Amino acid sequence: MRILVIGASGTIGSAVTDLLSQDHEVVAASRKGEVSVDLSNAASILSMYDKVGKVDSVISTAGSGAFGPLDALSDEDFTFGLGNKLMGQINLVRFGRDYVRDNGSIVLTSGILADHPNTNSVLLTTLNSAVEGFARAAALGLPRGLRVNAVSPPLVRETAIKMGWGNGGVPASEVAKLYQMAALEPVSGQVAKFG
Ligand SMILES: NC(=O)c1ccc[n+]([C@@H]2O[C@H](COP(=O)([O-])OP(=O)(O)OC[C@H]3O[C@@H](n4cnc5c(N)ncnc54)[C@H](OP(=O)(O)O)[C@@H]3O)[C@@H](O)[C@H]2O)c1
Repeated sequence: MRILVIGASGTIGSAVTDLLSQDHEVVAASRKGEVSVDLSNAASILSMYDKVGKVDSVISTAGSGAFGPLDALSDEDFTFGLGNKLMGQINLVRFGRDYVRDNGSIVLTSGILADHPNTNSVLLTTLNSAVEGFARAAALGLPRGLRVNAVSPPLVRETAIKMGWGNGGVPASEVAKLYQMAALEPVSGQVAKFG
């Protein structure tokens, strides 16, 4: 299969790419990737699909939003997060439908903060929950057997180590299996997560 991974150079994206490229052709995309795309720019998403052409699956392992308590979040933080992690991933589905072959899939990324909010996760909890709601509803109206799912990663071990939070969390190589399942198994409108 031919699989487009957006955010392929990231912590999760590189593990997804390593896993899926064992059996499939992976096309790697990100702002500085071999295929260039900026999730927050609709024209750049259209241009990416035009350049890449037909695929069997699109997997997004990108999407950003600011941490911080409600009082500290600015208009710009909300505008950026909504345009990037939420609208960027919605546009991957809106613009990507015609490029995904019959019975293919699009997999989006939410995150554990959808289910486990804290005082600093106001924006990310909102974005992650919206991504999951979008995946559940959008999956209902797609033609040609197309599927949409979301993956809600837990804290990734490599991220915890990088941030100096100890060595808890789940290895990215394990998280990658959620994306493999969401992309390749006959499921749609699901949010894949541990536990
Ligand atoms: N890591 C965790 O513990 C964890 C837990 C729960 C949820 N998540 C979610 O999982 C996703 C990936 O996390 P991660 O830790 O793997 O991130 P990461 O290591 O920071 O990697 C982000 C990837 O996305 C690309 N990217 C960044 N901005 C982009 C944009 N505007 N357009 C296109 N590509 C862009 C980056 O490459 P370029 O710089 O080349 O663009 C990179 O490939 C995020 O949505 C995050 O919220 C992560």
